[in-house]
Amino acid sequence: MKLYSTICLVLTIFFVSNIQAQKAKILVLIHSDNGGTYKLAKEIATGIEAKGEANAYIKQVKASEHPILKSIPVAEVEELTSYDGIAFGSPIYFGNMSTAMSEFLAKTVNLWSNHALEGMPATVFMSAGSGAGKELAIQSFWNSLSVHGMILVSNGMRGYESVDKTIPQGNTVLGTTSLASLNNVERPSQSERLLARLQGQKIAKVALALKGTFSQKRPSKKDSSQTDVHAVLKAKQIELPKVPEPAGNYQPFVRTGNLVFINQVALKNGKIVHPGKLGKGLTEEQVQEATRVAILNVLSVLKDAVDGDLNRVKKCVQLTGIFNTKDDYTQHAALMNVASNLLVDIFGEKGRHARATYGASSIPVNSSVEIQAVFEIE
Ligand SMILES: Cc1cc2nc3c(=O)[nH]c(=O)nc-3n(C[C@H](O)[C@H](O)[C@H](O)COP(=O)(O)O)c2cc1C
Repeated sequence: MKLYSTICLVLTIFFVSNIQAQKAKILVLIHSDNGGTYKLAKEIATGIEAKGEANAYIKQVKASEHPILKSIPVAEVEELTSYDGIAFGSPIYFGNMSTAMSEFLAKTVNLWSNHALEGMPATVFMSAGSGAGKELAIQSFWNSLSVHGMILVSNGMRGYESVDKTIPQGNTVLGTTSLASLNNVERPSQSERLLARLQGQKIAKVALALKGTFSQKRPSKKDSSQTDVHAVLKAKQIELPKVPEPAGNYQPFVRTGNLVFINQVALKNGKIVHPGKLGKGLTEEQVQEATRVAILNVLSVLKDAVDGDLNRVKKCVQLTGIFNTKDDYTQHAALMNVASNLLVDIFGEKGRHARATYGASSIPVNSSVEIQAVFEIE
């Protein structure tokens, strides 16, 4: 019975991963200042995934402080080659793509000279104000994509029968736009949203049909240089603990843009390991053990922040180690090296970080150490 269940589980995992591998992977790459483009992007993504044959990944070309945009991951130029299609979205600026989108595309020269995007399907949607120059703007966007040799997916008249013609709409045969400053109705209007979903369905259909037919010559950074962090953890027999519950009104981590912020103490199985003050009953070795517990807690929370895939960590940016020590103690660096060395052991070059350490007269829940960490993730 046990053997039968195991075989069923293995077969299920095999089929599920096979289905995932067959799906088209489509990047919805946006710039948005005020969220209008992002609203359209979500409809495009819904359309992409509507038939269950493609997955959509919404990313932006630069980090934003806008509340609804700040948690959207920022795309790397190099990762563009790892998709089967790209839906580009930006505000219209003076009949063109936005400056941020234009700056991002200006960084794709290497991809261009390697023909890396040649043959990959692309489509364009834009958030407009009044709609002035909307076709011109999409067409000018197409200029850049044509130079890359991308296959341009247009909208044509698809969905036109269902468009509410009693109000101005952002429909164009080239791609969907939204007339954000005509707010006699909520924008994007229902019709603009419908057209965006249809556009998403169309790019998904083309991407699936063309999947694997173009060269994708330039490997992404991830493909070429990444060692599997989970394999490293296994090889070093490092087991990450269960994520500690917050002890107050805060979250285990906060992600803003591509940065994740985490703070942890030396809590293990609900108890503080080696509590107290260094030099007053606690030895350096004990505080080093506590430091290892604290950094493992940090890593466990980090794993949650990257949905279980630590390979999505791009950089350990900064560690701050706070130690409960007597006033005259000065060897904090030696204590903190336990945490720093572990990160470099696990993540290699990506694990190298800036660091601060200092002593405190007390630390919450009588931990001898607290670690604050900032990571950059995909
Ligand atoms: C510098 C600038 C130029 C603009 N030019 C146009 C334009 O040519 N046509 C138009 O319809 N809207 C234009 N707009 C309005 C934006 O396209 C519109 O506000 C858009 O919805 C913003 O998208 P977002 O909400 O994703 O930031 C312009 C806005 C700015 C700031």
